[in-house]
Amino acid sequence: MTDAATGSSRGLTSYGDAGFSKFLRGVFLASAGWDAQDLERPIIGIANTESDFNPCHRLSPAIIENIKRGVLEAGGVPFVFPTISLGETLLNPTSMYLRNLMAIETEEMIKAQPMDAVVLVGGCDKTVPAQAMAAISADIPALLEVVGPMVTSTWRGNRLGACTDCRRMWASHRAGDLDQDEIAEVGNALATTGGTCMVMGTASTMASLMETIGLMLPGGATPPSPTGDRLRHATKTGRAAVALALEGRGPSTFLSRDSFMNAVTVLAAIGGSTNAIVHLLAIASRAQIELTLDDMEQTFKKTPLLLDLKPSGVGYMEDFDRAGGVPQLLLRLKPLLKLDAMGPLGLTLGEQLETVTLKEHDTTIRALDNPLLPAPTLAVVRGSLAPEGAVIKVSAASPDLLRHKGPARVFDSAQEASLVLSDPEIAFSPDDVLVLRNSGPVAAGMPEAGSMAIPKSLAIKGVKDILRVSDARMSGTSYGTVVLHCSPESVVGGPIGLVQDGDIIELDIDNRSLNLLVSEEELAVRSSQLDVTPMDDIRMSIWRRIFTKHVTQAHLGVDIDMGQP
Ligand code: FES
Repeated sequence: MTDAATGSSRGLTSYGDAGFSKFLRGVFLASAGWDAQDLERPIIGIANTESDFNPCHRLSPAIIENIKRGVLEAGGVPFVFPTISLGETLLNPTSMYLRNLMAIETEEMIKAQPMDAVVLVGGCDKTVPAQAMAAISADIPALLEVVGPMVTSTWRGNRLGACTDCRRMWASHRAGDLDQDEIAEVGNALATTGGTCMVMGTASTMASLMETIGLMLPGGATPPSPTGDRLRHATKTGRAAVALALEGRGPSTFLSRDSFMNAVTVLAAIGGSTNAIVHLLAIASRAQIELTLDDMEQTFKKTPLLLDLKPSGVGYMEDFDRAGGVPQLLLRLKPLLKLDAMGPLGLTLGEQLETVTLKEHDTTIRALDNPLLPAPTLAVVRGSLAPEGAVIKVSAASPDLLRHKGPARVFDSAQEASLVLSDPEIAFSPDDVLVLRNSGPVAAGMPEAGSMAIPKSLAIKGVKDILRVSDARMSGTSYGTVVLHCSPESVVGGPIGLVQDGDIIELDIDNRSLNLLVSEEELAVRSSQLDVTPMDDIRMSIWRRIFTKHVTQAHLGVDIDMGQP
């Protein structure tokens, strides 16, 4: 190990007498059964996010046992410690509001406790980016081990999985095609094992991207949570963490702009979650690596969709795993990748891929010359409605709405949208453009409210999609023609706050433009009447006040602006 002070001697507690601090530490560790011989070994911290409020992580105890086994086999000692856990569906107002808090807390606990390396066990949407941000900022040897995806189930012979099918089946119920009993039955068939959502939602996307940049060992993103493959990967991670601790190789020793550009290529090729755009910006910023929406757009333009997974295709994560997972995808993408990017174990990506054999028979991962869809799968659009950019998942959109001009129907909150859109008496046209504002980072923590429901009056007529525009996010499991992350957001003066009912909005994907077709003079008048008083109220929680005052806009990663480049 490179650090002069290692193991339990690292970062002594300040009592003013280093000898006494070390003695006292030994006293208390002895009470937990550790002897002097144990404490000569590298200490591997294991960040545990098990929580009854996070059902996606419910199989993490077995995973952690295997990491511990790997650590012990390799000559280290494992110390498990708890951190904040973020269970996507059980948090108010939204997990995004808490991602940075988890990153800050995890980083501080890594730094404060005497560990030579850390393994971070996460999985559910925001846990992985939070842990990556923490590991990069702490910059000690670190590996992520995700809990892995759930396994699919069936209902009446149809294969189902969380949560693209949750949305699809709920839409059927809303349109009157499934009655109350049927939707209740479906509810018991959508998530039947522990693990994360098993489509290419945010959890699966972030796992795939973290494997790509090397914060996770190869093959780690896809094994389902209940499988032996998952447990064996955990054991391997435990062993590797000891090797990394002995070499002192932290994330800053191998992460580069090339690593992140490879992640952007993978994001496009898997039809990944739009949330990952925000997370990658924040993670790169923690690594002090320049990455912008324009960099991403350049990659999106030339990267086709290779992976046949919901919501862009038909498969599930277990299919991706059987097809060879991320290593097999990277092999297919080789001509588009920066092969000199380094991995955590000292090999370049090119060297890692030399050990991967092409599985030609499997169609879940397509060849580069036979993609599921041509580029782009994701796109960055700009214009008078989003001067700093907005994003759209092209692969999950309706082709006929990607070039569309229509009148705005504006909602000032997700609650208002929900009420109006659920009322079958309120008429809408399929040409309307639904606009949701006051849902950006500062206003609301940027909830996944952007994929508003199809107006009920249209849903019952069989309309399945409508153009939607917002400063919110949407779940990676969602689908539809949905423009998200309009930046700047409405409450800091973004033009989305100036839209009025009936204004014409134009999306033109070929030109990557999103415009509000209202004269500049009229917009200037509306802007002068807009109230953008900074939100601060002593009755808000301390975190809420810090978040509101310091959170960056979507095009910068929605991190806390306190000194990152
Ligand atoms: Fe946890 Fe989807 S709710 S990963």
